[in-house]
Amino acid sequence: MSNFNKTYTTDAAFMLHGGDYNPDQWLDRPDILADDMKLMQLANTNTFSLGIFAWSALEPEEGVYTFEWLDEVIENIHQMSGRIILATPSGARPAWMSQKYPEVLRVNASRQKQLHGGRHNHCFSSKVYREKTQKMNRLLAERYGSHPALLMWHISNEYSGECHCDACQQAFRHWLKEKYNEDLKQVNDAWWGPFWSHTFNDWSQIESPSPIGEHAVHGLNLDWRRFVTDQTISFFENEVVPLKELTPAIPITTNFMADTHDLIPFQSLDYSKFAKHLDVISWDAYPAWHNDWESTADLAMKVGFINDLYRSLKQQPFLLMESTPSAVNWHPVNKAKRPGMHMLSSMQMVAHGSDSVLYFQWRKSRGSSEKFHGAVVDHDNSADNRVFQEVAEVGAALQQLSNVVGTNRPADVAILYDWENNWALNDAQGFGLQSKRYPQTLHDHYRPFWERDIPVDVITKEQDFSSYKLLIVPMLYLASEQTISRLKSFVADGGTLVMTYISGIVNEYDLTYMGGWHQDLQDLFGIKPIETDTLYPGDRNNVQYQGNTYEIKEYATVIENQSAHVEALYQEDFYAQTPAVTSNSHGQGKAYYIGGRLQDDFHRDFYQSLMNELALAPAVAVQHEKGVSVQVRQSKDKNYIFVMNFTEEAQTVAFEEAVKDMETGEELAGEVTLAKYEVKIVETLHNQ
Ligand code: GLA
Ligand code: GLA
Repeated sequence: MSNFNKTYTTDAAFMLHGGDYNPDQWLDRPDILADDMKLMQLANTNTFSLGIFAWSALEPEEGVYTFEWLDEVIENIHQMSGRIILATPSGARPAWMSQKYPEVLRVNASRQKQLHGGRHNHCFSSKVYREKTQKMNRLLAERYGSHPALLMWHISNEYSGECHCDACQQAFRHWLKEKYNEDLKQVNDAWWGPFWSHTFNDWSQIESPSPIGEHAVHGLNLDWRRFVTDQTISFFENEVVPLKELTPAIPITTNFMADTHDLIPFQSLDYSKFAKHLDVISWDAYPAWHNDWESTADLAMKVGFINDLYRSLKQQPFLLMESTPSAVNWHPVNKAKRPGMHMLSSMQMVAHGSDSVLYFQWRKSRGSSEKFHGAVVDHDNSADNRVFQEVAEVGAALQQLSNVVGTNRPADVAILYDWENNWALNDAQGFGLQSKRYPQTLHDHYRPFWERDIPVDVITKEQDFSSYKLLIVPMLYLASEQTISRLKSFVADGGTLVMTYISGIVNEYDLTYMGGWHQDLQDLFGIKPIETDTLYPGDRNNVQYQGNTYEIKEYATVIENQSAHVEALYQEDFYAQTPAVTSNSHGQGKAYYIGGRLQDDFHRDFYQSLMNELALAPAVAVQHEKGVSVQVRQSKDKNYIFVMNFTEEAQTVAFEEAVKDMETGEELAGEVTLAKYEVKIVETLHNQ
């Protein structure tokens, strides 16, 4: 892909730096609010998200509005040339509302009505809540829509969860009727109704999945998850009606999340669908740096992966909406970022396509559960501590990067991630219940490219495949006929496809294909998978590939070869000397099948040979040791090169051509040494 046009996600032509600001927690402390304005300038910040959880400060009693404090804060930020990301406050509601209109409260899967409290816990179907949020949003748009400081809308906060109340059950049945043409037989067929006598003869018998009710009908589970995404989007769409009407030029985002330990994509909403409703993707990144279970480099690789997914959702720059200047308060161990890590981790986000470094939060609160969450301003209210200073340094560095804003990072390689597949695969009662690890398997296929600085897009199944030379599709257990036919065309037209074990097994209803997998896959790969052998954690098999032996853990597909070229053979067990890895020419392209769960050493060597064959190369070659990552953003004439040391010691890297240090303006050539955790951002002219 070679589209070097800039895409500005907002009207700001500078890197955004700032974050969640909650002055509503400090309204009785005008001295603190005044200090904030001074400290914001000392921290080199320019953008603040306001009002995220401010409903009770904006409407303390039903119909009584108190926007004056917000007027003043916005004006103050505007006075110092700052910009505002204005939130709609639906992420948490005032007690008066839950008390007067209990229908806004969620009912959980066990059918227990929740009490008022916490946040992110409203019913997505409630008519009252939809009316209340839309009214509040209209007032915000009327009051602030033409304010010159308004940069963007931040809709609600981290949408998540599901509600099982009667209104949601009705909405679900309505959704099913639309999907299945009002024909209950189609539902029973799609859900394999006769199994355990699960045939319905009236729509009213259908209920959302529940631990005290139905949970074994996989088609139902899958449709419920799809409904939850659609109902969340429908709630979101209801929120944005007045904003689109009154402020059509102001971009709209909502902050996405990642699941924490392995930093895998957030599981409970299909963001590939949600992305289509947003102008800008933004997300909240909280990697556990310096943890005790993986190296800094391995965690950096995972951060790279998820950034490449969220950037690829719209194929444009995204925003880092939240991050912490140091520790969070909700990891099992909340370790401070070591000196240098804040700069490195922030710049890694920018390197992968973020046009911002924003924080949760600006100032630490004094009370409640987030009083120890890292913030720019600590309880000392001072600019003289390490964390504040490192934030100010990031702000200064971002000021040098205005030219990077809007640039992208073209890629020849794509890895496919699919939310529906993850749901269906996790639901599958089979294989190894603990060892499926679909997103982590994608990490394993991403790692060799990350190590070699070869840009990767992480795309979803509806995106265009045609611009890639190599498409990697690990563990695509659920694949519709449409997806299969698109993969086939990609190869027929000259693409190289890699698929693995446990792929192409069920269709979009979670019904298996007859014959092991779809006939079209058989044509494409020239093989037929006969059985998937699941291994115990201590079991191993081996393969021979290009004269070397590589270990297999957890999964091995027994393959019947039809017309494929055998790349590797199993060495052990009843399928010893049968194909483990195959390739097959199809049309202009080639399709590889990896039958067993091979490890990093294999992936490095296997993908190295594809890199050679397909002439896949970094955008800019920089020689370095493992643990250094080089990511490049490109405009029509410039390469912006981020060289990042994710190791625990100094590293020497070698530039092949002279580059300009974007911080100092200095020319650098040949070998350059980076301290532990150091990042150097350099530019070159690019001659494509
Ligand atoms: C039990 C049940 C069967 C089936 C098997 C599966 O034996 O009686 O219906 O579910 O378990 O192992
Ligand atoms: C999320 C929320 C924030 C805050 C942070 C803490 O990202 O959106 O309001 O609670 O977590 O890490």
